[in-house]
Amino acid sequence: MFKDLWKRRVALVEADLIKELRRTKSLDENLMRAMEYSLMAGGKRLRPILLMAAADAINNLGEKFITVADALEMIHTYSLIHDDLPAMDDDDYRRGKLTNHKVFGEATAILAGDALLTLAFEVALRQEDVPPEILLRVLKEISIASGAAGMVGGQAVDLRSEGVHIDFATLKIMHSGKTGALFKAAIRSGAILAGASEKNLDALTRYAENFGLAFQITDDILDVTGDEKILGKPTGSDEKNHKSTYVSLTSLYEAKNLAHAAVDEAFTALENFGSEADFLRELVQYLIARKK
Ligand code: IPE
Ligand code: IPE
Ligand code: MG
Ligand code: MG
Ligand code: MG
Repeated sequence: MFKDLWKRRVALVEADLIKELRRTKSLDENLMRAMEYSLMAGGKRLRPILLMAAADAINNLGEKFITVADALEMIHTYSLIHDDLPAMDDDDYRRGKLTNHKVFGEATAILAGDALLTLAFEVALRQEDVPPEILLRVLKEISIASGAAGMVGGQAVDLRSEGVHIDFATLKIMHSGKTGALFKAAIRSGAILAGASEKNLDALTRYAENFGLAFQITDDILDVTGDEKILGKPTGSDEKNHKSTYVSLTSLYEAKNLAHAAVDEAFTALENFGSEADFLRELVQYLIARKK
């Protein structure tokens, strides 16, 4: 049931992503190819799926908000294209394929990222059947989460933490920015779009924070223990770049414990929800045991 719904929604999101992408006429064919190359390269599509799952936990109408969900995946894909650039993590594989800059060159990869980021906001504005003030609120959430106060800020902390010792508090800030912020925006956006009460929004926000934490700790673990073929991206990237991660600051064992503790917290956050939040429960549990 959980896996079936996930699969169905991945298919739904992928069909919608390509449709929305192609509604935009690029002045440059090569740029469009580069955007499509990374956007349609697969991936778990977690942020759109989380947005829909959070909306489902409120009113069971998750799929109605697929257009805003698409926007999040565009922002995420842009962040991956830039994350892999030589000036950042300098990685050659992503989602089982050569990274964008390896195929299209650095300049086009930078521009493809830029264009996906801006396209995301154009696409989110195409969302139908949502009152404008609600859509504005959601776009504010998403823009703050994507920028200096969120994902980009976290990436900056990540880069300046290479090769130096950082404390645990800085590690937490880095993770909550580079990975947590978009997950939080996905879940809060879904909840807001579905008309959640402030109490439910708070509970889902707590779930989201712990989801993001469990997810990034697992990403750090998989960078050490994962199988490149299954992961679709290189392992050992963090060590190569002397990154500060949960594994480097603690140990594999301790990192796993911390991931489990975050899952427990995520469950606690959902304690006032019934079966309508089962997908969220199963998802966070599945993701710490994941291989990709
Ligand atoms: C990878 O994100 C980057 C991080 C935020 C750790 P995902 O693991 O969600 O990547 P895809 O979308 O499935 O490729
Ligand atoms: C990057 O974190 C998070 C982003 C904002 C893209 P990582 O650098 O650990 O992500 P991976 O391991 O390359 O996917
Ligand atoms: Mg990185
Ligand atoms: Mg990386
Ligand atoms: Mg990583």
